[in-house]
Amino acid sequence: MENSHAIAPRFQSGLDAAQSFKAGAQWCDKMTSIVLTHGERVGRLAFAIARQMTLPVARARELAAAACLHDLGKLLVPLEILEHPGALDNSMRRIINDHPTLGADLIAIVDRESDVASIVVRRVVLCHHERWDGQGYPYGLVGADIPIEARIVAVADTYDALICERSYKRAWHPDAALDYVNESAGGQFDPTVVSEFTALVQSTHPRFWCNETPGDWEESARRKFGLALSYVFHQQIAPHGTRGAAPRG
Ligand SMILES: [Fe+2]
Repeated sequence: MENSHAIAPRFQSGLDAAQSFKAGAQWCDKMTSIVLTHGERVGRLAFAIARQMTLPVARARELAAAACLHDLGKLLVPLEILEHPGALDNSMRRIINDHPTLGADLIAIVDRESDVASIVVRRVVLCHHERWDGQGYPYGLVGADIPIEARIVAVADTYDALICERSYKRAWHPDAALDYVNESAGGQFDPTVVSEFTALVQSTHPRFWCNETPGDWEESARRKFGLALSYVFHQQIAPHGTRGAAPRG
């Protein structure tokens, strides 16, 4: 099935080369910030939560690499929706809610490996917006049916999104963000993950996971992100404004 919003050419053939180059460079910069920079912060936090929960180091590294890429599907969401300053209308919400499945399709295209690490990436990309109470998407999975990696990333993702400024909101104080996460235990989030996350935050300075030395898992995530960015970019500038193959097929 084709997503008309996903691969629509963004760089008009009537633009001169310099304008096209500038527009393309701006798109790459913004997507890197929205997807990878946020993803790397979530990866460091997810690693710390996983270790707090006594997951083995190797598993925590796989989880961190996957967390770096959790929003990969946003590469296929128009920037005007990702940066929309106000509340999203229903059609925008439908498009943005497609990003887990778009991301899973995209990672399947750029990552031909089938090792355990790749399976974890696909699991996290697809399930990080599922909710403990079954009200999430895309499948409405409930409780422990949601992969543990995705339950950890859900907490890390929301906390980072709250404490950072976005085009549509100001940054929350870390204490307010922690309160939100705790109030959402048993609803949006796995209560066990919330409890371990709270213990971690209360024992560690919030800057720990933002400024910590990058983990080696980020190399693998950056390589896959680069492949995905390049794939989507080339879809958008297909000759004569035609579309290339849609990633959902
Ligand atoms: Fe997401």
